[in-house]
Amino acid sequence: MSDAVETWTNVGRLEDIPRLGARVYRSARHGDIAIFRTAADGVFALLDRCPHKGGPLSQGIVFGEQVACPLHGWTIGLADGAAVAPDRGCARRFAVRVDAGQVMLQVDRRVQDEPEVERCVSQAT
Ligand code: FES
Repeated sequence: MSDAVETWTNVGRLEDIPRLGARVYRSARHGDIAIFRTAADGVFALLDRCPHKGGPLSQGIVFGEQVACPLHGWTIGLADGAAVAPDRGCARRFAVRVDAGQVMLQVDRRVQDEPEVERCVSQAT
């Protein structure tokens, strides 16, 4: 368990994010963060910059737990932010959860220490 205090920011209602769509939260610290909602009401948050050439992932097409970048069609996993092979790279991921219908985002800390994103960190060199 971490000793850091977790700060969650209420970024709005889940129902205000369209299914298979996204909305953008503008973070003063990190820039735009895309918050995605899947067909099954899964919620994921990634920096709104494609690891290819910075395309706005929030404007991409969500399918399953992936988003297709609107610029050149790279597929990015919503859970880990990683580009699907053979493409390489990773969009920064942020912790997000839904609490009583409200979307709560942890903007102070990037989720980079979890095992599933280790490969993204290693590719970011
Ligand atoms: S900028 Fe996203 S695929 Fe090129």
